[in-house]
Formats: sequence, C-alpha cells, structure tokens
Amino acid sequence: MMRAVELAANGPAWGPNPRVGCVIVGADGAVLGEGWHRGAGTPHAEPAALTDARERGNDVAGATAYVTLEPCSHTGRTGPCTEALAAARIGAVRYAVADPNPQAAGGGEVLRARGIDAAHAPLDAAAALNRRWLGAVERGRPWVIAKWAQTLDGRTAAADGTSFWVTGEEARAHAHGVRAEVDAILVGTGTVLTDDPSLSARPPHVEDPHQPLRAVMGLRDTFGAKVWRDEDAIAVRSHDPRDALAALAAREVRTVVVEGGGTITSAFLRAGLVDEVHAYIAPAILGSGTNAVGDLGIATMSGALRGRDVTATALGVDTLVTAFFQRGPQ
Ligand SMILES: NC(=O)c1ccc[n+]([C@@H]2O[C@H](COP(=O)([O-])OP(=O)(O)OC[C@H]3O[C@@H](n4cnc5c(N)ncnc54)[C@H](OP(=O)(O)O)[C@@H]3O)[C@@H](O)[C@H]2O)c1
Repeated sequence: MMRAVELAANGPAWGPNPRVGCVIVGADGAVLGEGWHRGAGTPHAEPAALTDARERGNDVAGATAYVTLEPCSHTGRTGPCTEALAAARIGAVRYAVADPNPQAAGGGEVLRARGIDAAHAPLDAAAALNRRWLGAVERGRPWVIAKWAQTLDGRTAAADGTSFWVTGEEARAHAHGVRAEVDAILVGTGTVLTDDPSLSARPPHVEDPHQPLRAVMGLRDTFGAKVWRDEDAIAVRSHDPRDALAALAAREVRTVVVEGGGTITSAFLRAGLVDEVHAYIAPAILGSGTNAVGDLGIATMSGALRGRDVTATALGVDTLVTAFFQRGPQ
C-alpha cells in the first residue's frame, strides 16, 4: 500500500479528483501492474494498473489490488472501477481510505457483492496525501487556505498601502509553488485595486505550471486590472465568503488560497471557513500599517483560534508557519 501511495503522489494535487495509486500483486507477492490517476478525464488508478499488467503480459486473475482510495462504483468521466476490477477477475481488493464522495462511495460493498474479498485497510499516509480533497468533499465546499506575508509585528502592508515586498525571494517562490498546486486564488477588490497582482503561478524550475482560476471578491468594479487579462478569472460580487465558495465550487474548485487582504481573510476566519493557514513571516517591523487579520470578535485568550499539525520552514531570512484549523461554525 505504501508503494500505491508513492504512485498516487505522481498525480496532480490540483483538479477535481483525488490523487490515487494502485498496485496489483500476485499470490507469490510479485507486482503484476501499477498505475495512478493523472487527473480528471484520464483513467482512474485501477484501470491504469490493469492496463499496465496487460502490457507486461501478466494475468491478474485471483490477484490482490492495493488501492489508496475505495474503488468507485459510478460512471463519471470514466466507467466504474469496480466493474473493471471484477471483469479482470481480481481476487481481493484492499483500499486505504473509504470514499467520502456520496456519488462514488460504496465501491467496497459492490465488490463484496460480486464475490471479491474487498476490505478497508486504513493507512494514514494515504489520507494525508488527499487531506485537502477529503476535507473539501466532507465539508461540501472548497478547502480554504488563508495565506499572507507579514512582518514580525503582524503587518501585511505599510501605512501607505505598499506591500512589495514583505518577504524575500525564497518565500515568494515558495508561495508561487503553492499556487501551482491549488485550483483557485481568491483576493478582495481592495488588493486588486491597491496591488494590481496578476495572481499567476510562477514557481522556479517549473516549465509550464498549472495556472489556478483567479477570483476577486467585492462590489467594486476592478475590470482593467491585470487579473482580467486572462479569461480564467471570475468576479464574486458579494461580501459573503459562502457566496465565494459556492461560485468556486460551481467551477469544480476543491482547494482555494485566499491571498488577502486582511478584510476578506478576516471574513473567512469569522465565518469559520479557514481550514489551513500559511503565514510567511519576515524579520521586519513596521509599527503601523495593515494587519494580517482584523477583529474576529475574540476578546479573551481562551477564545483564540489554535492551529494544529504546525510546521515552521525557514525560507531564506523568512519563516513559513503552516497550521490546520478545526472546522468552525459553518
Ligand atoms: N502581505 C500580504 O500578504 C498581502 C496580501 C494581500 C493584500 N495585502 C495588502 O492589503 C491591503 C488591502 O487590504 P484590504 O483589506 O483592503 O483588501 P481586500 O481584503 O483584498 O479587499 C477588501 C475589499 O473587498 C470587499 N469585500 C469583500 N468581502 C468583504 C467583506 N466580507 N467585508 C468587507 N469588505 C469585503 C470590499 O470592497 P467593495 O467595496 O469592492 O465590496 C473591501 O473594501 C493592500 O495594501 C495590499 O497591499 C497584503
């Protein structure tokens, strides 16, 4: 199963589908076929592994398929994997994560009804790989990462509105790498009108990175700004974070990075709609200017939102702190 997780990681982190890997093993323990899902519209991991086995000239009748996610039993962009496994006369299936997607779930049951020895074999590494996708499906809305770059004293811009640049090149390059792994970037009209960002992904050493959908939230007109130069951008004319997430979900967005400013970041935090925070912290002090986060109505220390599974990564002179947040009030 660990090999299947390794294979799954080859798939894209962005897109409407999870990353899934599959290894088919014979009775003698020999690997007969391997595959992974390369993104929406391409074969799922199980048919990919079955094809690999066929191309290697291996008979998979009676073999065991190790899959990182419960095989689907529905016809979406591709046919049901349960059918493909049954047709290939696979003897047993072990899946590391039960599918939380109501449309695709129940594959284990379908396989058992077909006389295949199918069982859930939980593995944390498999769930961790799709943490954002699983969270999005469970919550019925896109997974939200709130990202900002701040000084030591928590400012994201100086008093005159300038924010180029809070952090150094390494931190900015890292943030571009994150953009290339998500489906969408959301900013408020304030940020578009002040900074005129292009909101594209430009990670170093990546030839042709995936470009996320760009979204601007707020009532003012921002047409003419750089973000509109590309057709793949949407305006959400609302102040309600739920409206923004609904508009993004309609575009099959599973993960969105909310890149500020402080007004919309605070609106998402107040609504309990932030799942993960990425704070890039520069060793700089401004003393005045814009705060990373505004008033959340929290008046006492015990009310503080506390992250878990925290990481701290040095990026040149800056530090990236990431943390996951419990689901708050919806
Ligand atoms: N360092 C960083 O990481 C970073 C990142 C981004 C921005 N910044 C800086 O932050 C500053 C801009 O901050 P900001 O807070 O003004 O920008 P913002 O959050 O991008 O935009 C705020 C605007 O969005 C609209 N809006 C959308 N949802 C809203 C809600 N729930 N409540 C109220 N208004 C809502 C309002 O404009 P309408 O009237 O159009 O509705 C509001 O004025 C700039 O100086 C920029 O340089 C820094």
